[in-house]
Amino acid sequence: MAQDVAQDMIRIGVVLGSTRPGRVGAQVAEWVHGIAARRADAAFTLVDLAAFRLPHFDQPVPPALGGTVGPEAQEWARTVGGLDGFVFVIPEYNHQLPGVMKDALDFVFAEWSDKAAGIVGYGVAGGTGSAAQLRQMCGPLGLADVPPQVGLHLALDFEDFRVFTPRESSARALDGLLDRVVEWTGALAAVRAGRAARVA
Ligand SMILES: Cc1cc2nc3c(=O)[nH]c(=O)nc-3n(C[C@H](O)[C@H](O)[C@H](O)COP(=O)(O)O)c2cc1C
Repeated sequence: MAQDVAQDMIRIGVVLGSTRPGRVGAQVAEWVHGIAARRADAAFTLVDLAAFRLPHFDQPVPPALGGTVGPEAQEWARTVGGLDGFVFVIPEYNHQLPGVMKDALDFVFAEWSDKAAGIVGYGVAGGTGSAAQLRQMCGPLGLADVPPQVGLHLALDFEDFRVFTPRESSARALDGLLDRVVEWTGALAAVRAGRAARVA
């Protein structure tokens, strides 16, 4: 997390949802983060799931009902809780989200609530199956998934399916997605602040 972020600036995490050795996702997440970091309307942090070394979901109490157990999960909860919005960078495995991403979503609950989410999918056909599954999870978690979506195609946005060479149209799509994520993140930060003030 950047240390020099102004107190009132919204913080958005670019979450890389692929952890396997040799993943192409690191190139995609760095591209997203590089473009996002040029913006002045939010502070963006690259959040690499691989760094958290989360176990398979192992919480004795459903996160919606209780605290988080275990050092890795607690570190993950702190990280998610410290962010106001998210851009998920997700591949597609057998038309689904990677299991590690599904687990990471399940591990925490309140920390996702009333925050915005954008989806950058990639795969043979733009990661649309994976993105659709993630959208299904956003509702129950209280994540507001923005309508724009970036779908990167292995045959069109990569050379030899391995070296990331994004099309100009993909960069434009990313700008549109970031605009919306920043807008919704700001709106929902105000919602959370209003609720906290009413409860206090
Ligand atoms: C287990 C597995 C299943 C896959 N299934 C799909 C799929 O259903 N649809 C698709 O578009 N790509 C699929 N792919 C191809 C991935 O999109 C491609 O390997 C991509 O590089 C994965 O992202 P990563 O390298 O960041 O892990 C699959 C890859 C793996 C490893």
